[in-house]
Amino acid sequence: MTSHIPIIAIDGPSASGKGTVAKLIAEKLNFHYLDSGSIYRTIAYAGRLQNIPLNNETLLLKVLENANLSFKNDQILLNGKDVSEAIRTEESGHGASEVAVHRGLREAILGFQRSFEKHPGLVAEGRDMTSVVFPHAGIKIFLTASAQIRAERRYKQLISKGNPANMTSVLSEIILRDERDLQREISPLLKTKDAIEIDTDTLSISDAVDNITHLFSLKSQTS
Ligand code: DC
Repeated sequence: MTSHIPIIAIDGPSASGKGTVAKLIAEKLNFHYLDSGSIYRTIAYAGRLQNIPLNNETLLLKVLENANLSFKNDQILLNGKDVSEAIRTEESGHGASEVAVHRGLREAILGFQRSFEKHPGLVAEGRDMTSVVFPHAGIKIFLTASAQIRAERRYKQLISKGNPANMTSVLSEIILRDERDLQREISPLLKTKDAIEIDTDTLSISDAVDNITHLFSLKSQTS
């Protein structure tokens, strides 16, 4: 490992399964876990609560300055209130991708994200984990899947959580989000040269978890 604290950084498009995979790996290895997308989702959620247009970076930075954002076990707390469910809606996901284009805002949360780099190790998931936030991560994974498969997963996830969902609109939202994430100027969706691509179209979540933990143990033995 290049850093003495082992880091597994997982990137990939929206709904590729990276959240589930990252969480399971963190549990398996007893590592800390960072779901960076939830930070952008929470900022979008907090902005909307205050009727702030998500294209207004200055006002969003003020929201961030005055917000107390923390993680407690599986919960995401905004000013002490559990928003874990509220930020999982399609609306918050859409809002997050609007908020995530602001350079100053991305820089403002860098320190918070890096504070998760703690012993015995970290599994960090989300856009730019492999490129900007933890470029020194020992293991970098780009988890991907086709838009159709990702839409099916997202649809099932929304339904299982009791959220209203429509397959056609979930698919078009995924395609739209991909385009926005790919084309944006700052931290676009990209596979870094040193990342290993894992396609979960045909690979089960538990196989993906096993593959990555296997890679990690191989890497630990050689470093
Ligand atoms: O992974 P997710 O669906 O929770 O991400 C929501 C949005 O936030 C998505 O459009 C990508 C963006 N995001 C980002 O720009 N950088 C991150 N580190 C994580 C998520």
